[in-house]
Amino acid sequence: MDKIVSLCKRRGFVFPSSEIYGGLGSTYDYGHYGVLLKQNVKAEWWRAMLQERDDIVALDAAILMHPRTWEASGHLAGFTDPLVDCRTCKQRFRADHIESSACGRKPSKRPGETPDCDLTDPRDFNLMFQTTLGPVKESGATVYLRPETAQGIFVNFKNYLQFSRKKPPFGIAQIGKSFRNEITPGNFVFRTREFEQMEMEYFVPPDEAPKWFEHWLEQRMNWYTELGLRPDHLRLRAHAPDELSHYSSATSDVEYLFPIGWSELEGIADRGNFDLTQHAEFSGQKLEYVDTASGERYVPHVIEPAAGADRAALAFLVDAYDEDEIGDEARTVLRLHPRLAPVKVAVLPLVKKDGQPEVAAQIHRELRGRMSAEYDEGGAIGRRYRRQDEIGTPFGVTVDHQTLEDHTVTVRERDSLVQERVPVTELADELERRLRAPWSSPKLPRV
Ligand code: GAP
Repeated sequence: MDKIVSLCKRRGFVFPSSEIYGGLGSTYDYGHYGVLLKQNVKAEWWRAMLQERDDIVALDAAILMHPRTWEASGHLAGFTDPLVDCRTCKQRFRADHIESSACGRKPSKRPGETPDCDLTDPRDFNLMFQTTLGPVKESGATVYLRPETAQGIFVNFKNYLQFSRKKPPFGIAQIGKSFRNEITPGNFVFRTREFEQMEMEYFVPPDEAPKWFEHWLEQRMNWYTELGLRPDHLRLRAHAPDELSHYSSATSDVEYLFPIGWSELEGIADRGNFDLTQHAEFSGQKLEYVDTASGERYVPHVIEPAAGADRAALAFLVDAYDEDEIGDEARTVLRLHPRLAPVKVAVLPLVKKDGQPEVAAQIHRELRGRMSAEYDEGGAIGRRYRRQDEIGTPFGVTVDHQTLEDHTVTVRERDSLVQERVPVTELADELERRLRAPWSSPKLPRV
């Protein structure tokens, strides 16, 4: 993980937030390449949810919601973690994570292990951030930064039935920021207090819920593997009954083998009719599906694949990170799926003279209308390749003296290092063809 964190800072993917003031615990800013990577992750999620299906529609709900939402959803009463304070070191711990936490004074020990430790009894700590709506704190209404995007979907269920002409099974998908005042955030962007979720609520006839639960387990596993995560680093883990959230009758996590061990990447839950029933009760509105032909009415059940955009981006980075040697020289390379790579192609003149920069700049201008492209003429060619390898650019296009004679360039592949000459007139089509081709991680053993 240290190597990932250092690469992310060095190459402008992720920085600690407000760093010039010493940072703010576990909040991060995405730099240029991090923005592009996360944007690509989200675009692939939208593609899988919207473009490749016709039973899901999109939503972008407000972060601030009516406070009754959180009473109905159960978050106000139950979205808590058990908190323990140490009166000696003044640190706070999650009671259920004590075994894996470090004592504030003696980090090799766990909290409570030394005679000096003085732990309080666990108490429930609500993870929702509060703020006040309106200019006067005393008379304003207390509202919450949403801890999940899902509730924005449930409160819009009626609108969607009316405008979208969908009937169950159908889904509403949303990507947006969520906020949780985590007691022990950490492990870089794995657990932060502000993060982006990619959630889809799939409304189904009650008797079809088990079938759709299985469907979404399979779909979501496939999404990760098609985008290149190594299958032996992915697994599904079903929650034990005592782990289930208050709303769920079945949940399975997609887990990835992060450097910190197997950890949740995404949760897929059967939420039953809990949310629609609760919101119907608290709002007084009917939240049910009525079949106009048969007159049948029911409250749909909900299958929810809930993923984290930051966690997914981190998993793709971890899975892609590699070190090898070219000749005698060490290189760091991100073997990202080409569709996820922040930059698809770098255009490089071999030398900064003989008209090569002008030709390369022209090729770059033509390519950037079709894909994310960079132009770089600074430094030795090997160092420029190395810079692109480090940010995961799958293709390097080099303009050399031969280009000026026969209008061909070399295309260098990041993973195989194979270089091929391609006519400039065919370059964009050829690169697009390669970007669409199926891809699997070269870190997998070849058969
Ligand atoms: N609506 C259901 C829900 O929110 P969750 O398992 O609490 O379920 C879904 O969250 C996903 O959101 C997680 O699998 C994870 O990827 C991401 N996530 C949750 N808390 C996070 C945090 N503190 N930091 C980063 N990502 C988080």
